[in-house]
Amino acid sequence: MSEPGAGARDTIRLARADKEFSGPGGPIGVLDGIDFAIRAGEFFSIVGPSGCGKSTLLQLIAGLERPTRGTVAVEGQAVRGPSPRASLMFQRDNLLEWRTLLDNVLLPAEISGTRDAAARDRARELIAQVGLSGFERYYPYQLSGGMRQRAALCRALAANRDILLMDEPFGALDSLSRVEHQMMLQDLWLRRRLTVVLVTHDIREAVLLSDRVAVMTPRPGRILRILDIGLARPRREEAEETPAFIELVARVRRDLAGVRAPAAAA
Ligand SMILES: Nc1ncnc2c1ncn2[C@@H]1O[C@H](COP(=O)(O)OP(=O)(O)OP(=O)(O)O)[C@@H](O)[C@H]1O
Ligand SMILES: [Mg+2]
Repeated sequence: MSEPGAGARDTIRLARADKEFSGPGGPIGVLDGIDFAIRAGEFFSIVGPSGCGKSTLLQLIAGLERPTRGTVAVEGQAVRGPSPRASLMFQRDNLLEWRTLLDNVLLPAEISGTRDAAARDRARELIAQVGLSGFERYYPYQLSGGMRQRAALCRALAANRDILLMDEPFGALDSLSRVEHQMMLQDLWLRRRLTVVLVTHDIREAVLLSDRVAVMTPRPGRILRILDIGLARPRREEAEETPAFIELVARVRRDLAGVRAPAAAA
């Protein structure tokens, strides 16, 4: 499957991208020399310490922020504004409280002026795929945390884009519902052949779901390592008990422990 050096199937490419924000005490470097590519159809995760720039990195790919230096390209086009190729699921679900579940999922269709019977059918089908049939007329406050996240996922998928950027989508869930949501995401990804970029604090989640996992250093965030996962698919929870899985999790954990430890010499 791999095409050495071709890069033709790369769908997201960052080249020597730096990001600085202006803070109260002057500019702060948030991302430093980010240089990697994500292949079309790949499931790619990013882990790193809090504040290292993971959300900022997703925003660069989504086109909601611009790099201070370097370039970000999606499907061969430099990203200069909100990308029409990618949907972003934010760290909070951002559902509109005054709209029902169905109307939240129909928002992308409404924005693009295509809210018709076909769009409603697609929305209902998506809602069914994440196990929310019967709740179409509920308002967000009538849904549980996990249901809200699935509603936000439906809304992101309803835009029908090839790239799904997810920022800690399951961060607030208990461990049982987390596993269910992870399996649901894997099934959706396998069925739709999306490119997924997932930011997570959960090393287990990253290894279970991903083709590759990028480990970042503390701010200014750099890519320390990109690890190939290579476990057979579809992966079920039981995969976590295999020696290969345990070793991969341990490697990521060691990398993160290494970058968190205070530097031996300045
Ligand atoms: N709009 C902004 N203006 C100024 N500074 C910002 C802005 N957005 C983010 N930052 C700073 O950039 C750094 C990285 O933030 P970011 O949200 O990308 O981190 P993160 O890795 O997603 O952290 P977490 O894991 O806690 O979500 C932080 O120091 C933050 O204060
Ligand atoms: Mg974040």
